[in-house]
Amino acid sequence: MTAIHRKSLIESVVDSVPIVLALLDGGERVVLDNHEYKKLMGDLRMAEPAALILDAVRAGLGHGLGPAREGGHAFSECEIRIEPRGAPRWFSCSGTWVRHADGGADARGDGALYLLLAAKETTRSHAEQEKTRMAALQAMMAEEARIDGLRETLSAAVFQIEGPINVMASVMGTIERRGCCAPAGSALTEALDAGKAAVENLRGAIPEHSQESQTAVNLNEIMRDVLDLTTGRMLAAGITVQWRPQAVLPSVNGHARRLRAMFKALVDNAIDAMNTKGWKSRELHVTTRGGGSSVEVRVEDSGPGIPAELRLKVFEPFFSTRKAGGRHLGTGLSAAAQVAADHDGVIEIDPAESGGCSVRVVLPAHGRGTQA
Ligand SMILES: Nc1ncnc2c1ncn2[C@@H]1O[C@H](COP(=O)(O)OP(=O)(O)O)[C@@H](O)[C@H]1O
Ligand SMILES: [Mg+2]
Repeated sequence: MTAIHRKSLIESVVDSVPIVLALLDGGERVVLDNHEYKKLMGDLRMAEPAALILDAVRAGLGHGLGPAREGGHAFSECEIRIEPRGAPRWFSCSGTWVRHADGGADARGDGALYLLLAAKETTRSHAEQEKTRMAALQAMMAEEARIDGLRETLSAAVFQIEGPINVMASVMGTIERRGCCAPAGSALTEALDAGKAAVENLRGAIPEHSQESQTAVNLNEIMRDVLDLTTGRMLAAGITVQWRPQAVLPSVNGHARRLRAMFKALVDNAIDAMNTKGWKSRELHVTTRGGGSSVEVRVEDSGPGIPAELRLKVFEPFFSTRKAGGRHLGTGLSAAAQVAADHDGVIEIDPAESGGCSVRVVLPAHGRGTQA
């Protein structure tokens, strides 16, 4: 076989493998690719997906690539997730260092080192796993919401009963000091003690927060969970969603469950705000963005918004303008503020927003914040 025939044979083999292949030079520029790589380029509508893949690999590894030596692995079977505008895609990526002895290289094997990037798409098997996971998540979050409701209701009861009991105790103190009405006084003291004991019992019945360890959490995954979990409500309310994730987002250090519950509360609030009779504009925009030191999530709706004078008040516990009963305890935003603070982050209602409501959550990127 002539060299030319061999070359075209190799090229057609490389083009027909169902794996994204790209060969990168020292400056991480693509010098050779295959059909699957070009297809990915088209799908993602971007010039060089290799840079994006390497970013995601580096974020996943949490450290740099393996040492550059011929035949060595820069990384191996690293699972990455890319979030284009449509559905998320998963790839299992490997990188191998190869040396190319360009014309001038001698027998000692000198020549430039290249990185051969191979990415095999694993979206289909992930999609199956996702279905099972979502069903489990739905059940888990419903149970957690029930417990959260119980916690908040008991806390509210304790808070509300403590006020009058304290007033009664101080009045009793005055009465006792004056030494009047002894028999009625002792009956009242007993009633007061019984009231205090009842409050303590209630306090003891408040369910504790479940213990969850901190991990590297990808907020794109969290937001997608939240959007999946609320799809039913949004469809029923005729709300359209614009989901704009940053394709590869730095992770944050945190409690996945608590973060998921926080963002679900924000999306639920947005749905509540737009799902009022006669309200025409029903659009939800969810955006994620991440830089070197922080990650930002924005939940914007086209509802009536929050008046400027209430922008701080809405974060107070038990503040609600919604109809009492059932779901609206007025604790969604106060709990969200607590979660953000526990992650060394901030949550705020964007004052610049005209029209609807824009809630912005900023959390430190993984490795930047202090431990919560
Ligand atoms: N997206 C939003 N648009 C308009 N108002 C909102 C929005 N989110 C929250 N609010 C206001 O903030 C209040 C407190 O929200 P929250 O703490 O979640 O309690 P709840 O939803 O139980 O009323 C709501 O009652 C509502 O008045
Ligand atoms: Mg709420």
